[in-house]
Amino acid sequence: MPGKSLLLLGLLVATACRQAMEDQPRYEPFEASTFFGDGRSARPLIPGTVARGHLDDAAPPADAPPFTVTLQVLDRGQERYDIFCSPCHDRVGTGDGMVVRRGYTRPPSLHLDRLREAPAGHFFEVMTKGFGAMPSYAVQVPQRDRWAIAAYIRALQRSQHAALADVPADTRGTLEREGGE
Ligand code: HEC
Repeated sequence: MPGKSLLLLGLLVATACRQAMEDQPRYEPFEASTFFGDGRSARPLIPGTVARGHLDDAAPPADAPPFTVTLQVLDRGQERYDIFCSPCHDRVGTGDGMVVRRGYTRPPSLHLDRLREAPAGHFFEVMTKGFGAMPSYAVQVPQRDRWAIAAYIRALQRSQHAALADVPADTRGTLEREGGE
């Protein structure tokens, strides 16, 4: 008899213990919190955070897509960028998209010197693997489109830093007459 009640007691203690483990005072993923000013229990990632299993710097990122960038590729890149990236990065890449205005982590401007100097392959990698607070787009955006977007970002960067010298000499005159410079 004493053996039996001991067993019962043991069972009780065991289940009670399990219950206590399950009801720990902890936050579920994405649960709201009154503790932090932004109302979220999850803390923002530190800029430059690399997702687990993504620290892979074996090969340096490529300078350009592995295919010729035509106007068609750029058009495709623009279309895909506007759909998948502009919600956060905005259409010109300054990082003021609608999602950001509603509280999402603000991405850096794509026109920073650091990103203007980065190889196109860096953009491809960011889309493929995600980057800090930014999720991966490998599933939504197929590889060729990711390159098209990378090429489009390059064009976008150039468009914001164009100098008269970038315009072919034979059309420069028209611009000057129109009061450009
Ligand atoms: C949901 C919002 C969101 C979307 C959509 C988004 N990004 Fe981002 N992006 C971010 C944030 C936030 C960061 C900054 C991440 C950090 O530093 O932790 C970032 C950073 C970047 C960077 C800079 C990386 C660096 O070296 O600092 C690039 C390039 C980039 N994103 C490209 C893209 C492209 C291309 C797309 C579309 C396929 C895209 N992003 C879609 C939020 C977004």
